[in-house]
Amino acid sequence: MMLLEGRNLRKTYRLSRRISLEVLRGVDVDIKAGEMVAIMGPSGSGKSTLMHILGLLHAPDANDGPAPELKFEGANVTRLSDGKRTKLRAHKMGFVFQSFNLVPTLSALENVTLAAEYGGMKSSAARRAALETLSWVGLDHRAKHRPMELSGGEQQRAALARALVNAPTLLLADEPTGNLDSSRSAEVLALLRRLNSERGQTTLLVTHDPAVAASTDRVIRMTDGLVDAEPQLALAA
Ligand SMILES: Nc1ncnc2c1ncn2[C@@H]1O[C@H](COP(=O)(O)OP(=O)(O)O)[C@@H](O)[C@H]1O
Ligand SMILES: [Mg+2]
Repeated sequence: MMLLEGRNLRKTYRLSRRISLEVLRGVDVDIKAGEMVAIMGPSGSGKSTLMHILGLLHAPDANDGPAPELKFEGANVTRLSDGKRTKLRAHKMGFVFQSFNLVPTLSALENVTLAAEYGGMKSSAARRAALETLSWVGLDHRAKHRPMELSGGEQQRAALARALVNAPTLLLADEPTGNLDSSRSAEVLALLRRLNSERGQTTLLVTHDPAVAASTDRVIRMTDGLVDAEPQLALAA
C-alpha cells in the first residue's frame, strides 16, 4: 500500500521584491507502507523543505505550475485546515530533528509524556506509554533527567522516544545523527533499523552518510530542488 504520495511539490521563498529562491521545483515522491527510505543530497538541495512538506509542517506552493497534490493513506491532505493538519501530525507522524528539540525545562519522561498527551492519551496512560518507549530506546534509567543532564546520544534517543510514543504511521527523521559522534550515531541508527525490521515502521530519513543510506530499502537523491532521475536500466537488444 502507498502511504504517502506527493506530486508537483514546489516551494519558493521570496527573499525580496526582486529575488526569490526556488527551493523545490516540482518533486514527485511515493513512500510505501513499511519502507525505510533515505533522502540524500548536497546541503541546500531542498531535503528539509521536502521533509517538512511531506510531514505536513509546511504546505507546498499552489501557484505557478501544475497543482501540487499530497496523499496520506490514500486521503488527499493537500489543503487541510491548520487544525486538521496539526491533529493528523500529532496522531500519525513522528519527527526527529538534528537538534533534538526537547523542551529544556522538562525531564525526558515529561517530554515524552507530553507528546503522548498531544496524541490523545490520558495522563496516566501517557506516562505509562512514555516509560515503556523510553525503556525501548534504552533510556529508562535516565527518565527523570532533563535534556542538559543527558548526553547528545541520550537526548536523541529521548527525542526518538517522543516521536514513537504515539506509534506513528510515518517516522520522519531529518539528519538525526548530524550532531552525534560516530558511535552514538551508530546506536541511533541501529534503533531506527530495528524499528523498521521488527515493527515495520515506515521511515523517511535524511542523511549524509552513505553507509546509512546503503542500509535502507531505497535512496532518493536530490539536487538543486529536484529528485534525480533513477538510473535507467540498459535494455539488452
Ligand atoms: N524559510 C526560508 N526562507 C528562505 N530560504 C530558505 C528557508 N528555508 C530554507 N531556505 C533555503 O532553501 C534552500 C534549501 O533548504 P533546505 O531544504 O533546508 O536544504 P537541505 O535540507 O537540503 O540542506 C537553502 O538554500 C536554504 O537556505
Ligand atoms: Mg536540511
